[in-house]
Amino acid sequence: MTEILDKFRLDDRVAIVTGASSGLGVAFALGFAQAGADIAICARRADRLQDTARQVQDLGRRCVTVSADVSDPEACQEVARRAADELGRVDILINNAGIGTAVPAMRETPEEFRQVIHVNLLGSYFMAQACASRMRESGGSIVNVGSVLGSTTARLPQAAYGASKAAIIGLTRDLAQQWTGRYGIRVNALAPGFFASEMTDQYPDGYIEEMLDRVPMARIGEADELVAAGLFLASDAGSYVTGALLPVDGGTLVT
Ligand SMILES: NC(=O)c1ccc[n+]([C@@H]2O[C@H](COP(=O)([O-])OP(=O)(O)OC[C@H]3O[C@@H](n4cnc5c(N)ncnc54)[C@H](OP(=O)(O)O)[C@@H]3O)[C@@H](O)[C@H]2O)c1
Repeated sequence: MTEILDKFRLDDRVAIVTGASSGLGVAFALGFAQAGADIAICARRADRLQDTARQVQDLGRRCVTVSADVSDPEACQEVARRAADELGRVDILINNAGIGTAVPAMRETPEEFRQVIHVNLLGSYFMAQACASRMRESGGSIVNVGSVLGSTTARLPQAAYGASKAAIIGLTRDLAQQWTGRYGIRVNALAPGFFASEMTDQYPDGYIEEMLDRVPMARIGEADELVAAGLFLASDAGSYVTGALLPVDGGTLVT
């Protein structure tokens, strides 16, 4: 019988992690490499991807880097193609690339709003499509990185970001019902609370401390705490879980 902890292993799997040039994407790439997967990473900053790739390779795993903008469907196809060609298969997609802006709706331009939707929502969809066509023979697991801000606000003007992350919940639900039964592709979402990254560096001084009033655990999350939840969803440990939204937020959504 498979030991329960073995179900969390990703040996011989290939995982694509988008947005792995900084922040949580780097943590996903390194955590999944530690679990035994070979990794393909993408983002726009090629030099930063190389830094991540070196760290993955230091863990003894292969790493393919692709400089790509996920809002471009052709670029997403290229990411999936390079992963399949150079690493042999595509088993896991972590749809992590995202941007966050805070612009008052009274003066937000169409282009500002559109850009967030294009990266966070359309980018996740294009990557899912590109990867699913390579998972359909032997199944796979897609994990969309949403946010607690898909279900609540953070007292900042974030209509585009909140809308994009709420849409991730609907996207996850629908792709799960389309692909799980037919192709064995599970589709789930994480809803992170507050984690230190380049994105949260942009918050006003004192903002996070103020927000901690809403977090029962009264602290921000550690990247590994999100990666562990992602590993559960991506690996065989989560083999009976699809269409789910898993908050990793220290309890923020219960307040
Ligand atoms: N940190 C938090 O508290 C928190 C909370 C909830 C949800 N999240 C979500 O977690 C994910 C990771 O965010 P983070 O906090 O780690 O922020 P981050 O450090 O700013 O990382 C964002 C990543 O996305 C990439 N990216 C942005 N636009 C892209 C595009 N058009 N094409 C390809 N890659 C793109 C960035 O790389 P390049 O700039 O090199 O392209 C970077 O690698 C995001 O989806 C975010 O919404 C974060």
